[in-house]
Amino acid sequence: MAEQRLIYRDTPKEVLEALRHKRAQQPAKVIRARIDRTLRESGLSDRQLSIRFESLDDSEDPKAHRICRAFAEEGSFQGKYGLLLAGPPGCGKTTLAISIMIERVHRLGGLNTVQFLSLAEAIEQLRPNRPGHNDISITEHPLTDISANGLVILDDLGMVKRSEWVDTQLYRIIDELYRADTPTVITTNVALKELGDLQPALTSRFFAMTTLVEMGGQDFRLKRGNA
Ligand SMILES: Nc1ncnc2c1ncn2[C@@H]1O[C@H](COP(=O)(O)OP(=O)(O)OP(=O)(O)O)[C@@H](O)[C@H]1O
Ligand SMILES: [Mg+2]
Repeated sequence: MAEQRLIYRDTPKEVLEALRHKRAQQPAKVIRARIDRTLRESGLSDRQLSIRFESLDDSEDPKAHRICRAFAEEGSFQGKYGLLLAGPPGCGKTTLAISIMIERVHRLGGLNTVQFLSLAEAIEQLRPNRPGHNDISITEHPLTDISANGLVILDDLGMVKRSEWVDTQLYRIIDELYRADTPTVITTNVALKELGDLQPALTSRFFAMTTLVEMGGQDFRLKRGNA
């Protein structure tokens, strides 16, 4: 039978520590299999699964890389369980968020589930009357029990097309993660002043739950094109 993984949110810290310690004594093969399974179920593509901090160029934004590595080590940064990676297209936000996820899964021995979500797509899947909506049962939807994960990436806030309905869904997701202190990395290429256009209840949660990392540097896509 497949090994039960932990509900991060509902497990007291001492219990988590004791279990981690116990499971760290398991044969390397068992730990590796659990890490592989957790990563396979994370929502990352095969290409994304090969991303590692070590293979990235950190010269464009060494500070952002330092913060992301620190977050990957601890699952928090400066007492907050979230990072908001903000910056122009192509500066490496998604890549850094994925590096954090992969490092975190390895550090935790795959004990907690993790979830990578393209925010716009996940919200669209919630839309009632969407063709195929009934194909996904509520319990299978990636947003179900999202706060039980050991880490969640909400990718590309800037791609979410706003409407009253969308804002309500966004609020529900953020509020659930916020209340459960679920480690969360949000990426966005929306200028910070535009973030201020979101509902105040939402921006207040964003800033309470995350450390803002404003990224700069070149667009890696253009840089590669010019190389
Ligand atoms: N630190 C890095 N070193 C080398 N290549 C990188 C680095 N960061 C990103 N890249 C490459 O640059 C491209 C763009 O990166 P990424 O998708 O992470 O950017 P982004 O900031 O999320 O962009 P967008 O706002 O368009 O979503 C990818 O092909 C990625 O492999
Ligand atoms: Mg991106």
